[in-house]
This record gives sequence, C-alpha cells and structure tokens, in this order.
Amino acid sequence: MLIMQNGKITHCGPYTQTHQFLPANCPVTHYPDSLISAGFIDTHVHYPQLPVIASWGDELLAWLQHYVFPAESRFADKTFASATAKAFLTELLHNGTTTAAVYCTVHSHSVDAFFEESARLGTRMIAGKVLMDRNAPTALQDTAQQGYADSAALIARWHGNGRQLYAVTPRFALTSTPEQLELAGTLFNSQPGLFMQTHLSETQQECAEVKRLFPNASSYLDVYDKAGLVGPRALFGHGIHLHEQDFQHCHTTGCMLAHCPTSNLFLGSGLFKLFDAKAPHRPVHVGLGTDVGAGTSLSLLATMGEAYKVSALTGGPKLHALQAFWLATAGAAQSLHLSHKIGTLAVGMEADLCVLNPKATPLLAQRTQRSQSIADALFALMILGDDRCIEATWVNGHCVYQQPHKGL
Ligand code: GUN
Ligand code: ZN
Repeated sequence: MLIMQNGKITHCGPYTQTHQFLPANCPVTHYPDSLISAGFIDTHVHYPQLPVIASWGDELLAWLQHYVFPAESRFADKTFASATAKAFLTELLHNGTTTAAVYCTVHSHSVDAFFEESARLGTRMIAGKVLMDRNAPTALQDTAQQGYADSAALIARWHGNGRQLYAVTPRFALTSTPEQLELAGTLFNSQPGLFMQTHLSETQQECAEVKRLFPNASSYLDVYDKAGLVGPRALFGHGIHLHEQDFQHCHTTGCMLAHCPTSNLFLGSGLFKLFDAKAPHRPVHVGLGTDVGAGTSLSLLATMGEAYKVSALTGGPKLHALQAFWLATAGAAQSLHLSHKIGTLAVGMEADLCVLNPKATPLLAQRTQRSQSIADALFALMILGDDRCIEATWVNGHCVYQQPHKGL
C-alpha cells in the first residue's frame, strides 16, 4: 500500500503495516493483481520527432536531412509546437513514463510549449532548446551568441520553476562550431543543477566526420570535454563506439550514457555494450532512452525488451529483468543525480508511479499465470509488453492516466 500526500509518498509497505496511517476520508484506489512501479524515466527522446517516427530507409546523417530537419522546421509555428508537446506528453503518460530528458527544437518557443504543458500536468521533465550553428538548414540555425542568449533566458524562465529542469542542448559536435560548444559549456557550468544533453559516438560515419572537423581532439568525448560539457548531469545519447579511455573518463566525471536500443537497431548504428560500460571496476552511469523518432517506441517496456536482445548479441551476460527495470527507474534517477526525488517508491519520494497489469493481453495472461517469481513476470512484461500494460499513471500524487476498460 502507498499513501501519498501533497505530491509525496508518506507511507509505503504491506497493507497490514500501513493501512492504520491512512488519513480519515482519504480516497483509496485499488489495483487488484497489478504491480506498482516508480514511474519510468526516459533519458533521451525528441518530442518534435513524434510525427516522423517510423520513417524508412536512411542511416543517421541522411535520416536527419530527409526526415528530421523538415519535421523540426514546422516548429517555427508555436501552435503546432504546443499541439505536438501535448500529444507527446500524453503518449509518455500512457506509457508509464513520468520523467524524460527531452530535446526541443532550435526555436525558443518550442521549449516554452513543452514546459507549459509539463507544468500543467505537474510532471518532472528535463528539456532544452537545441543549439545548431552549422551543417543544418538555415531556418534551423542559431548563432553561438543568439543560442547562448536564448538558452539563458529559457533557464531563467524554466529551470527550477516547479518541477521543470533545464538541459543545455547542443545537438551534437557536427552541428555546433567550437565557439557554440564553448558557450554551451559556460551555460552548463553557470548554475548548479543544470543538465546538458547531446549525442555522442552513434555511428561510424559521424565519428569519422567529427575527427575531420576537430583534428586536435583526442577523441569524440574530448571534443565535449574541452568545451566544459562533461561532468555530473551531462547526458550523452548512444555512446556506441567508445573506447576504454572514454568509459574511464565517463566514470571519473560522473556523466551518463543513454542506451537507446530501438533507435540503434532502427538506424543500424551499432550495438551498445552495456556491460562494458558497467564494468564493476569503473561503472559508468547508464539510463535507457527511447530516442523517438529514430527510436521505434515510447514504451520503456519495449525498450527494455530490445536492450535484452542487444545484450544477447554483444557477448557477456544477458540483461536480467531486475537490471532492466532498475535501469528504467532507480538506475536512471541515480544517473541523473535525482535519486533523492524520483525513481523509487519510498517515504519522502515524489509520488510518480505507474501501475502495470501483467495480464494485459491474453498472451501475457497465459504466460504470467505460470510465473513463479516477480522477476519472471517482469521479464515477460518487458519482452511482450508495451503501453497496453500500463493500467494507470500517477504524477505528483494525482492520477493522470487510467487505461479505459474494454467493454465485453
Ligand atoms: N544525432 C544528432 N541529432 C540526432 C537526432 O535527432 N537523433 C539521433 N538518433 N541522433 C542524432
Ligand atoms: Zn537522439
């Protein structure tokens, strides 16, 4: 039983040990045969790419040109941005995701649109304006100075405003000049608690291009390091083609890698070596990312399932169900340095949760009725499950989504 008050969990435990603390007249919601989890955390996703999810045929750089940049150009219109932000956040909640690190577009109002909707829902979100001052269509470029000024204004408006958190967001090394990366580093280090998000070492072609553009850097990670963009709360998407020194540096600095298996498989970018990143002598912070629109699902259950399959292809141990659920909840919260607020169900934590139905489909019902352990039921959920398994989602102590019950 969970008791929540003013957006926080006040009691948590077996019914017999908690029901006596239930305040008089407190409404009670009962979820028979369900599992209650901390809300899922998506550590890497692009809300403006929702309209181009499942676009055929290209590898990363061509896919950006053909699908992503045209899609992001539509966000010059604030009304369109607001409608997409609303649709996106609704989808997240239907998938049990209560916190995400989200890329907006180069337009400042795309960030306002996103945070306005998140503030209305009461979700704890991390987001930021994309910075791009080269190698992108003119309509999607800012300049190093303008990007800095716009981001500073957005930080003043949104960072720490209610539950909203700001991430300085240079898209990646190929679309920012060294000057822009430098200014992004200045911003990132200008206030405690700010995040930084970017892409790192996703495809071989991208890595070769970074080498060409930054001949003095000792590695792709070093490009960001030289600009002051590596440290706690620095979130790097992908990190597929990293070397031992890079993992060592990630460990030492406390930054995070977002493992985005559905995206990496969809674009053919490569296989992230989770257990190399997590080597016990120098573990690196890792979270799971859906990376929509290169990612093919907003469901962290589906993402865990694909992470399992990637682990089966990379040698070493296979991802265990408990590890997968940890990566999507408590592990992500630790990696984001937010584990004192989100990611676990415990007294004092913010009341963000999702309710999982292990019998959501006939196939799951017949499979999980034979489960002898929670781990086995969770494994079936992550291999067979998706948004159909999310019975309800609660944010800040309020039910924000209840799956409509199918009639007979
Ligand atoms: N690298 C730079 N931008 C992007 C993006 O939007 N998606 C992915 N998957 N990789 C990127
Ligand atoms: Zn991405």
